[in-house]
Amino acid sequence: MTLLELSDVSVHYGRIQAVSGLTLTVNEGEIVTLIGANGAGKSTTMRAISGIRPVSSGSIRFDGEDITKLRADLRVVRGISQAPEGRGIFPGMTILENLDMGAYARKDRKNLEPEIEHVFELFPRLKERKSQMGGTLSGGEQQMLAIGRALMAKPRLLLLDEPSMGLAPQFIQQIFRIITEINKEGTTVLLVEQNAQQALSRAHRAYVLETGEITKTGTGRELLADDSIKEAYLGVG
Ligand SMILES: Nc1ncnc2c1ncn2[C@@H]1O[C@H](COP(=O)(O)OP(=O)(O)O)[C@@H](O)[C@H]1O
Ligand SMILES: [Mg+2]
Repeated sequence: MTLLELSDVSVHYGRIQAVSGLTLTVNEGEIVTLIGANGAGKSTTMRAISGIRPVSSGSIRFDGEDITKLRADLRVVRGISQAPEGRGIFPGMTILENLDMGAYARKDRKNLEPEIEHVFELFPRLKERKSQMGGTLSGGEQQMLAIGRALMAKPRLLLLDEPSMGLAPQFIQQIFRIITEINKEGTTVLLVEQNAQQALSRAHRAYVLETGEITKTGTGRELLADDSIKEAYLGVG
């Protein structure tokens, strides 16, 4: 089943067109990755999906309904949750308080214990530090917290914008392993990455974005084997 569908979406910042006529789908249960160079429009696409940035034309459908003009907070209620680029955690709040904030859109937020426990199972490091201020966490820990906070909304679609950015190698492996685990538990994932090697090997399907346009799509495996992808994004050839 198609969970998310972008049709001919364009996004502008003033007169700058950051995304041009982008069409993509994400099916329920998939990990789909969007790869592309710096400035290609990946984060802008994510912002359009989460509703932080309006589209200038085109449409976005989620779970069979048009959400093109739906407010960002109401998209969270529908089941779209984003761990934004640059992490965006609350530095002056503890880990537990940050996790609580992730559940703000839920109607059943009285009992958050099961989700908090679930996040702590995925990220034991956060459990050890649950009363520590977000701003004092290492980069890798902040990234874990950002993903954990997004999961607190119990999303159907999790949007991850460069989760591996700036992380030490052992954290990169761990984050990608956890993304696969979250997906296996039933959450659909749209993953934006510059680490194309890892992203393509984890994803069911992928899209390549170049200066605001999709230039290639296929399974993760197909794109990993594609010569032009190897040359441009995998540092071989
Ligand atoms: N807030 C903004 N104001 C103006 N231009 C922006 C803004 N954010 C991004 N852009 C421009 O939009 C294009 C796409 O950016 P972005 O979506 O952040 O790319 P990516 O995430 O792939 O690196 C770039 O040319 C960038 O300079
Ligand atoms: Mg970006």
